[in-house]
Amino acid sequence: MTDEQFDAIVANHLAVIEERLLEATVSSDPFVTEAAAHVVAAGGKRFRPALVVLSALCGDRVDSEALTHAALVVELTHVASLYHDDVMDEADIRRGVTSANQRYGNTIAILVGDFLFARASGQVAYLGVDFVDLQAQTFAELVEGQIAETRGPAPGADPLAHHLAVIAGKTASLIRTSALYGGMVGGVAPDVLAALGRFGFEIGMVFQLSDDLIDVVSDTTGKAPGTDLREGIPTLPTLLLRKSADAKDQELVRLIDAGLADDADLARALAGLRASRAIEQTRAEIARRAEVARAQLTPLPEGPAKRALGRLCDLVVTRSS
Ligand code: FPP
Ligand code: MG
Repeated sequence: MTDEQFDAIVANHLAVIEERLLEATVSSDPFVTEAAAHVVAAGGKRFRPALVVLSALCGDRVDSEALTHAALVVELTHVASLYHDDVMDEADIRRGVTSANQRYGNTIAILVGDFLFARASGQVAYLGVDFVDLQAQTFAELVEGQIAETRGPAPGADPLAHHLAVIAGKTASLIRTSALYGGMVGGVAPDVLAALGRFGFEIGMVFQLSDDLIDVVSDTTGKAPGTDLREGIPTLPTLLLRKSADAKDQELVRLIDAGLADDADLARALAGLRASRAIEQTRAEIARRAEVARAQLTPLPEGPAKRALGRLCDLVVTRSS
């Protein structure tokens, strides 16, 4: 099979998943349907469903129905978490549209997040107890990651190590589960499943680091640029900036720590950070970690699925460069 033929099969699976995602938002109450479809219909990269599909296609007996259920579990869980995340971040836009909290208020946004999580649980019920167990573990890790981010590092703890633990919980855990679900659906051998889990975790780390870099360097993300800076959430660029001995960098750290209450300060901090060496260092770390992810693919059987997962490693690097 050529890579083009393989890509067409992947696109077919993703088209079915897309349709079923919207169906999963339907409630007997039209308002709930509208509010639940709001962020789903706004699009998104569908990175997690794509990873489920590619991992499943590493196996040779893919049940399309199970594959669709598995992809829906991870994407619905992800979208549910975004409803909650935007409440916590007080975000105004998400995926280029008004965020649910801004449009419907915090209470409705939280409850719609819960509704979508219920829909994710409905999907996992079709797949069996191993899938439910993994979903439960992953949900706990997501929440623990988010709590760790909210609380910040303990006094004396290394902020960078804390940050990486936060990312591992809030992002890499669900992306690892996406790869594992795919492998489970595809019936891959145990060593391949373990490799997919490691790959999913590592690519999940790179995915979040790259997302955080985009938050700093891009104005076209469908989110407000510099949101993490404004919220005082540490990300790799600011953590590396803090390690710099350069006087200009230290002045920038003081500006960031002063709170960035008005838009002019935020714009100044964003411009300063964009011009700093911390950006290059972040890019280098993203590229290094993408190679760590790629190295996990070694035990996978040769073929178009393995090559596509390799291309995913390139993609997570280039999207923030
Ligand atoms: C986005 O990260 C948020 C997450 C990856 C996870 C958030 C997790 C929760 C709110 C807990 C789980 C809740 C449910 C209902 C499953 P980000 O803020 O770094 O990215 P952003 O720039 O896209 O906002
Ligand atoms: Mg956020």
